Amino acid sequence: MQHSEQTAARYDIYARIHKAIRAMMSETLTAVGRCDWHDRDECAQTLAQVRDLADFCFAHLTHENQFLHPAMEARAPTTSMAVAHEHVEHEAAIKRLRTQAAAVEMLNGDARLAAGDALYRMLAAFVGENFLHMHDEETRHNAVLWATRSDAEIAGIEQALVRSLTPVENQQSMRWMIPALTHHERVALFAGMREHAPAPVFEGTLAMARGLLSAADWNKLDAALQLDVEVDAA
Ligand SMILES: [Fe+2]
Repeated sequence: MQHSEQTAARYDIYARIHKAIRAMMSETLTAVGRCDWHDRDECAQTLAQVRDLADFCFAHLTHENQFLHPAMEARAPTTSMAVAHEHVEHEAAIKRLRTQAAAVEMLNGDARLAAGDALYRMLAAFVGENFLHMHDEETRHNAVLWATRSDAEIAGIEQALVRSLTPVENQQSMRWMIPALTHHERVALFAGMREHAPAPVFEGTLAMARGLLSAADWNKLDAALQLDVEVDAA
């Protein structure tokens, strides 16, 4: 109990993006599992979602390699090596997913169904491995970061990473992160964005949130952000 109270107070660089990835992986896996591969439109839409996931996962592990692992190695040598090795395996798995998605697209009839089933099993194994991988990062990697870096330093690493995102990567992150966060995490995300991002980015992301959230969640977010305006203006 004491441990969880202690760790809960520290800055968790993985928490929000990993919620987004878990949501995207879960929804994509479910979509592949229920897909009618004979339905041309549904097949195209589902394979596009698999390719989006492949792109997103590749970008994510690249960002961790570029920004997080050097920060860990600088203060605690070799601590990122195991995860870095898994990232190499994930790159190969992402390639295999893309190849299998292309096979589903090219084949017809029963061969397409068999390829779709194989894609589902391949994706399920990939998602399973990634769930355990993210748990390792959230526990073991965070322990290293918290032992060697201040919260301000960890937040600075995250800000540098976020600044490196392409507009498409940024939009994909928000698309999956916003509905996956708790209300309080969502309010903190938008409050920070209002303070630091250009107004059109904040407004565009807020408009996206309105389309993604339930009416109840949107109303809570809207009320909380209005409250912030009043507090800021006071
Ligand atoms: Fe990772």
